[in-house]
Amino acid sequence: MRKILITGGAGFIGSNFVLYMRKRYPSDRIIVFDKLTYAGNLENLKSLSSGPEYLFIKGDIKDFEILDRIFGKEEIDAIVNFAAESHVDRSILGPKAFIETNVLGTFALLEVARKHWGASKDKRFLHVSTDEVYGSLGDTGYFTEATPYSPNSPYAASKASSDHLVRAYFHTYGLPVVTTNCSNNYGPYQFPEKLMPLMIINALKGKNLPVYGDGQNVRDWLYVEDHCRAIDMVLDKGRGGETYNIGGKNEKKNIDLVNEVCSIIDERLSADKGLSARYPFKGSRKGLIHFVKDRPGHDRRYAIDCAKIEKELGWRPEHSFEAGIRKTIDWYLENPGWWERIISGEYRDYYETQYKERLVEKRSE
Ligand code: NAD
Ligand code: DAU
Repeated sequence: MRKILITGGAGFIGSNFVLYMRKRYPSDRIIVFDKLTYAGNLENLKSLSSGPEYLFIKGDIKDFEILDRIFGKEEIDAIVNFAAESHVDRSILGPKAFIETNVLGTFALLEVARKHWGASKDKRFLHVSTDEVYGSLGDTGYFTEATPYSPNSPYAASKASSDHLVRAYFHTYGLPVVTTNCSNNYGPYQFPEKLMPLMIINALKGKNLPVYGDGQNVRDWLYVEDHCRAIDMVLDKGRGGETYNIGGKNEKKNIDLVNEVCSIIDERLSADKGLSARYPFKGSRKGLIHFVKDRPGHDRRYAIDCAKIEKELGWRPEHSFEAGIRKTIDWYLENPGWWERIISGEYRDYYETQYKERLVEKRSE
């Protein structure tokens, strides 16, 4: 039985990972530590209840004292650090929170791990990072683990800084770290400010589909469950101090992706009277596409070479883009309450009105 601290476990990838690990390792104790920023949603974890195998703690990874207390009380075996400010557009509008969480937060987490673990070989600090640290590609080539860092947005620069700190703690203190750099994820529970859920929800509601610039920017799309499986494998077998690239082998131009979302939604709704009554629309949803002002400093192309994780750990993406996108659209069709509560802002009350009340009830039982 392991005790795993999962930071940022109420966000998109973090909550998918928590649910994945819960199913795969039922006796591990999972402690989710999350600040519940706008991107954290405890509703994602509502199927879990507090007990010996699961605990949620609300807190900021920048807060050394609270982390220190957790480490003092629980014999933590592994940390998986998902906690971050993750949206590029927000980093352009206001970079400060990105420096605070992604840089200073990762630093505090590393300090706590160093204090309690030192160079212990039995422990594991897995830092979840992004391919954006490598900058932008031209029409050809791939990011490998040897590609020099060249971050372009404040988000990417803050993640690059955190990766360098993680690397330095291995080289200087022998802290048992490993870093993953992944491409664009999509799937259930993704906050609807990101391209995929934004386009699905707007297309359902018959709202404009804003495509930045000329729509020719390329991203490498990975279904989130495949990312979770990769992290599990790196946690278990990845070599200390190493970095592993993770990608979907699914390069898509943004405009092609949005066109595909429109076609699948048109097709799904025209085959289902209930759904077409709920989301009425005449004509093709491609007509909702609008080209808008480009994102400043918009990286042109990302593409991952994941030969290292394939060869060393035997990981491969299992979802084709065709399968993953259909599964994702179905999830948003089946869970309208989840995204409607985000749009209305109601999801922000979940912790106060439901989670805390349940805890109080449980304690007074
Ligand atoms: P997200 O924005 O959906 O979730 C981030 C979570 O971190 C939220 O639950 C939020 O409440 C929490 N958080 C934010 N600041 C915190 C703080 N100071 N202390 C504690 N918790 C805090 O992000 P995501 O898309 O799930 O990304 C998770 C991680 O994976 C990030 O580190 C991101 O850089 C990385 N990543 C994301 C993608 C992607 O496509 N989404 C791809 C590669 C890597
Ligand atoms: O590559 C990994 C990264 O992928 C992660 O590190 C980030 O956390 C994650 O947010 C994601 O970053 P992107 O900037 O690539 O994701 P986003 O969904 O914001 O945008 C994807 C592409 O779509 C990008 O080229 C910008 C474009 N876009 C985005 C939005 C929100 C649009 O054209 N219109 C939009 O409305």
